[in-house]
Amino acid sequence: MNVLEAINQRRSTRAFLTKPISKEIILEILKISSRAPSGSNTQPWSVYVLLGEKLKNLTQEVCRAYESIQHEPRLVENFKSWYSYYPEEWVSPYIDRRRENGWGLYSLLGIQKGDKANMHAQFLKNFTFFGAPVGLFFTIDRSLGRGSFLDYGMYLQNIMLAAKEFGLDTCPQAAWNEYEKVILPIIGSGPNELLVCGMALGYIDKSDKVNEYQAPREDPSQFITWLA
Ligand SMILES: Cc1cc2nc3c(=O)[nH]c(=O)nc-3n(C[C@H](O)[C@H](O)[C@H](O)COP(=O)(O)O)c2cc1C
Repeated sequence: MNVLEAINQRRSTRAFLTKPISKEIILEILKISSRAPSGSNTQPWSVYVLLGEKLKNLTQEVCRAYESIQHEPRLVENFKSWYSYYPEEWVSPYIDRRRENGWGLYSLLGIQKGDKANMHAQFLKNFTFFGAPVGLFFTIDRSLGRGSFLDYGMYLQNIMLAAKEFGLDTCPQAAWNEYEKVILPIIGSGPNELLVCGMALGYIDKSDKVNEYQAPREDPSQFITWLA
């Protein structure tokens, strides 16, 4: 697979087979991905790899926290991340794209507007890493600047592309960030670390309809300004 094919074929995958992945392959992906550039070669990434029982225990704890919020919404403040991945206030065109994406996925799954039970059920799958055998959590030192988040994105994209080389797929996940305070003590991160996001890694379940979804993209004329 060449680089362009890998970029074009990568999708956020939301249903995986339970088929395990060897530690050697996981290590190879995480290692080669660290060839990503970073300002002054700071390499701001720290990765926690969850497998087997550890993964199961963590997902149980987060699902418990999720349930507690359904009964007592104020508890959100106790769990959530120090930094906000999404804006406080959404504006157009971003909110429109977000809605289009959400409804595109739900309508493929036959979930109608207002069907909160099925929406919740779909969202909850985030907290099992969509059935993937490998769960990754990424943290960063709080002392670093905004540029390091830029560097981090390059590392994350490398992982998602390198995974394709091994016949694997991924889903980057900010859904976990709402439960940072539950997750960090379990994975044993240091006091200065904050959660950047999670990521599911595994073999795609092609029989699951959810993986037929292809998120649209704007035409390049919408985001390129030629100056010549
Ligand atoms: C940092 C980051 C966090 C994301 N968080 C989630 C998530 O929590 N759950 C989810 O299902 N998808 C998540 N996504 C996937 C996006 O919805 C997806 O990238 C977008 O719709 C484009 O689709 P594609 O990745 O298939 O091209 C996330 C993507 C990124 C880059």
